[in-house]
Amino acid sequence: MSQLRPTPYSFNRAQRDQVFKVMTLQLDQASTTQLREWETTLAQEYQQFKASGLNLDLTRGKPSAEQLDLSDAMNLILGDDLSNESNTDLRNYGGLDGIPECKRLFAKVLGVANDEILIGGNSSLTLMYFAVLFAQNQGFGALGASWASEGKTTKFLAPVPGYDRHFSVCEHLGIELIPVALNDDGPDMDAVEQLVKADPSIKGIWCVPRFSNPTGTVYSDQVVDRLAQLGKLAGSNFRVFWDNAYAVHSLSDDAPELANIMDRCRAHGTEDSIYIFGSTSKITYAGAGVSFAGMSKGNLKAFSQHLGMSQIGPDKINQLRHVRFLKDSEGLAAHMRAHAAVLKPRFDIVLKHLREGLADTGMASWNEPQGGYFVSFDTLPGLAKEVVQLAADAGVKLTPAGATFPYGKDPDNKNIRIAPSVPSLEEIDRAMAVFVNCVKLASVRQRLS
Ligand SMILES: Cc1ncc(COP(=O)(O)O)c(C=O)c1O
Repeated sequence: MSQLRPTPYSFNRAQRDQVFKVMTLQLDQASTTQLREWETTLAQEYQQFKASGLNLDLTRGKPSAEQLDLSDAMNLILGDDLSNESNTDLRNYGGLDGIPECKRLFAKVLGVANDEILIGGNSSLTLMYFAVLFAQNQGFGALGASWASEGKTTKFLAPVPGYDRHFSVCEHLGIELIPVALNDDGPDMDAVEQLVKADPSIKGIWCVPRFSNPTGTVYSDQVVDRLAQLGKLAGSNFRVFWDNAYAVHSLSDDAPELANIMDRCRAHGTEDSIYIFGSTSKITYAGAGVSFAGMSKGNLKAFSQHLGMSQIGPDKINQLRHVRFLKDSEGLAAHMRAHAAVLKPRFDIVLKHLREGLADTGMASWNEPQGGYFVSFDTLPGLAKEVVQLAADAGVKLTPAGATFPYGKDPDNKNIRIAPSVPSLEEIDRAMAVFVNCVKLASVRQRLS
């Protein structure tokens, strides 16, 4: 027998064929004898993976070096010309809301007018954190109108599974999180509307409306329209936190578009109920991009007043090099196609393993995203932690189970976030073989017990 290598293809072919054949049967149709046979075969395969000393990581939702290389031309683009279109010397202080040419470029991404956007530093999460902080403690312009001044515990709705750092912003600021289901077309709007109507201390909802983290969901037009109307149903100073982090991050040209929420808000007279965010963290450099926030002029004025207490102005030179590099919407779209060319094959390998290894087994379900950075995977209820642990023991690191839920608690213990952007194609191939084995092993063992 040839030496075993840590890929599914190195597994003894006869054994592997047997596993694949039996695994096409539904788990719940298997007899105890069959289950025991599967357990033996899968455990053998698992031990082989374990013995092969893997060290693979599917946790990191960040661009790979290959993707970062796509923006390296940005470093040389400014030369010694550091003034912008209005001849402002960008080396100096000032311009809290960013340079006009950068506003024009990213206002289109957020779907707001050029005077409804602020360009910030390198992190949209910082802008989101400040937005929550100011709303909670400083208020919306006039001091005293903050959420905290209402004297009740502030609450936020958290569509789940979701982005852990949204949850930790709230947890850090003493805001209670109420999970609501994220359906295939966006948050469960019946539940959302009922909750905000019943409780005026619910002041916000986190939304990642296009290629959400981690499920890849694109909100439907109807859901966007209903979210735009929440400002009329909710208590005072309610805000939708519209984190459009993956606004232009499709994996193919035919990925679904997202309705413009600011337009919907204008139609309903609720412009003040929406804060929109985005950044170039996954367009140019994740550590040295630019962030942006879109909001009504009134909100922008209040937000800028508070922001101005923490800084004199952002890094405008970084803003300028972004505009000179990306140029316009067409330049941005072409750049994102280059990203997709790097990312798509990685997603394809993940999905190939899941389809070939787990389709029709009754052991799992997962999304097939058309953009973004993640595949969201559900084990059978109660197995996510065990699968993550099995994979870790075999040298494959996964995001901790529960991370996609507020307070780290997945009530069904079933969701696992797979992030394939950083590892090489070969590494993903190996890691996914291990992952599929761990899911099967844990599922068969659960059934047997
Ligand atoms: C949904 C979402 N929002 C925001 C961020 C972070 O954005 P930034 O780098 O602009 O702070 C991430 C990063 O993974 C994300 O997934």
